Amino acid sequence: MKSPHVRSIHGIRILKNKHQTIKRLRKEEPAPTLYGDQVWHSSFLIMEYLTQHPLPLRQRIMDIGCGWGLLGIYCAKHFAGDIVSVDADSGVFPYVRSHEALNDVSVRTERATFNDLKHADFAAQDLIVGADICFWPSMVKELKSLISRAMLAGVKKIILADPGRTTFLQLAEHCKENYITRLEPWQSQEQTTSKGMLLIIDNPLAA
Ligand SMILES: C[S@@+](CC[C@H](N)C(=O)[O-])C[C@H]1O[C@@H](n2cnc3c(N)ncnc32)[C@H](O)[C@@H]1O
Repeated sequence: MKSPHVRSIHGIRILKNKHQTIKRLRKEEPAPTLYGDQVWHSSFLIMEYLTQHPLPLRQRIMDIGCGWGLLGIYCAKHFAGDIVSVDADSGVFPYVRSHEALNDVSVRTERATFNDLKHADFAAQDLIVGADICFWPSMVKELKSLISRAMLAGVKKIILADPGRTTFLQLAEHCKENYITRLEPWQSQEQTTSKGMLLIIDNPLAA
C-alpha cells in the first residue's frame, strides 16, 4: 500500500519524519550527533547530476559522510553500484538500513572519519561522492587531505555538493589550483528547492 509518509525523489523512496519507522528509530536509537539526522538537499544535486550524466554500471562507489545513505542507495538502484556508505557517526546506520530495505538494494556501511580513510580504502573505489560534508573549517583541511589520498590511490572522480558555504568554496579553490576541477551552480529538477554548488574533480592519473 502507498504510504503518505514516503516520498519518491529521483526514483528512490525516502521516509518522511512522520513515518512510523523514523518515529521508532528516533525513540529507540541514539540520535545522530553530526547532522546526519535527515537527508540533506545537496544529495539531490548529485542525484540530478548523475541522472544527467549516468555512471557506467557496477562502479565501486564510496559515499563519505553518508548520513541516511540515500546517495549511495540512489547509485545502487540506478547503476547497480557496489556501494560503501561511510560516516563518522554510527548513529546514522539504522537509517541507512531502513532505506536500503525500503528501496530493495544493498549497501555496505563503515564507521570512519575522513581522516581514518587510507590509501587502501580508496584504491578499492572508482568514485567518491559526498553531500553537505564541508560545513566546518576543520572539514576543509580534512577533505583536502582526503582528496589528495584518493587521487594518489587512483580514484577516477570525486563529486561533492554543498549549498555554497564559504568553507566549501575554500575547498573548491584549493581543488582548482591542484586538480582538474569544475565548480558549477546546480539545481535539482525534481526537488526545485534544492540549489547549490557541485564540485567535480577528475583524476588524469586514473586508469
Ligand atoms: C549534513 S550531514 C549530510 C548527510 C548526507 N550526506 C546527506 O546529504 O543527507 C553530514 C554528515 O557527515 C558526517 N560527518 C561529519 N563529520 C565527519 C567526519 N569528520 N568524517 C566522516 N563523516 C563525518 C555526519 O555524521 C553526517 O552524517
